[in-house]
Amino acid sequence: MACPNYTKWMQSYPAIEDLKHKAKSRIPHVAWEYLEGGTGNDTAVRRNRTDLDAVTLTPRFMKGDLKIDTKTTLFGQTYDAPFGMAPVGLTSLIWPNAEVFLAQAAVRNNIPFSLSTVATKTPENLEKYIGNNGWFQLYPPRDSEIRMDLLRRIKKSNFNTLLVTADVPVPAKRERTIRAGLQTPPKITPRFLWQGITNLAWSFGTLKNGLPKLRTIESYAEKTSLKAVEETVRFSFRGNLDWEYIKMLRDMWQGPLVLKGILHPEDAIKAVEVGCDGIVVSNHGGRQFNAAPSSISVLGEIVQSIEKQLIIIFDSGVQSGLDVAKGLALGADFVLLGRSFLYGVAALGNYGGDYVFDIISEELKNNMAQLGVEDIESLKLHINSK
Ligand code: FNR
Repeated sequence: MACPNYTKWMQSYPAIEDLKHKAKSRIPHVAWEYLEGGTGNDTAVRRNRTDLDAVTLTPRFMKGDLKIDTKTTLFGQTYDAPFGMAPVGLTSLIWPNAEVFLAQAAVRNNIPFSLSTVATKTPENLEKYIGNNGWFQLYPPRDSEIRMDLLRRIKKSNFNTLLVTADVPVPAKRERTIRAGLQTPPKITPRFLWQGITNLAWSFGTLKNGLPKLRTIESYAEKTSLKAVEETVRFSFRGNLDWEYIKMLRDMWQGPLVLKGILHPEDAIKAVEVGCDGIVVSNHGGRQFNAAPSSISVLGEIVQSIEKQLIIIFDSGVQSGLDVAKGLALGADFVLLGRSFLYGVAALGNYGGDYVFDIISEELKNNMAQLGVEDIESLKLHINSK
């Protein structure tokens, strides 16, 4: 266990669900609604949960002493566990300095941390923390100069893997955040101030770190006003991608290139054809399209159709080591968690990410023992060998 408070915290927060409740009590309502909400009436969020719960894995016994090892090699790099941190935008709204805490936790536990284009820290801000564990999520710039510059900055700051988000052709309509009054970038309104006053640890952290700003994008806004940043997001960062764009990115980026947000087998096959190294089978945590299938329900079909021609990462709804085991047993090579890591930091601060790592990793090992498998490769074969 890497987390120094593991034993103490385990007594109060034995599951991610407990961290979720604690997090809710420590952050302003607007930040909670932003973190937790999906799109529409949250059907896709619930579907992720229901479908993950419905997966059963048949245990196997009488395997003697098992030496459980969760190490996983992905894109030539070995991680201590088969899961990592998904990109989350506007991160410091959820907890001040969250990106730094999570990047440090990722390095301490040797798993990947993904920095979002619309995070509140830049690649340069994180360079000294991220070691070799940094992935960068790209909302692709239209402008070729911005594109080249951003890719140069990502590489120079030592982020080695590029996740290109496919599933945001237009910004989603997020009713819960609209009702809560979220403005991007956040503006100081009386309501926001009041919520700050009633969440003191969050407020002191925010005073120390400054209001959350989209700092990577801000550097491309011609003027420094918030309005200019908003305009830059709207006009310079394209929504609807096409395969030609991915081919062009392929030529420009030498490291692993991963397309995030794939749900259809034909899109997965196309990703192979244009030279991607991986895909993330994801419905963006139910935040983009309310009629989308849960990602666990389409995972098996996608795994079959691409026949190991690229790496398959799975996310959306994962909140336990058992969920990770289910993703891997259904054929994913790796799993990402978005909200769970943020619950940890919002609930417990600096070491919250380490604690989430420990919970998920201990649960995963426990469930691997139930399934009678010692390593991740055997877990991936579990369904086939049942
Ligand atoms: C996200 N996600 C996301 N994805 C992305 O490609 N770029 C981004 O900036 C963001 N921002 C973001 C903010 C918040 C608050 C959440 C919860 C999610 C989606 C994220 O990377 C991942 O796909 C989901 O979070 C996975 O679902 P779970 O683990 O949150 O259920």
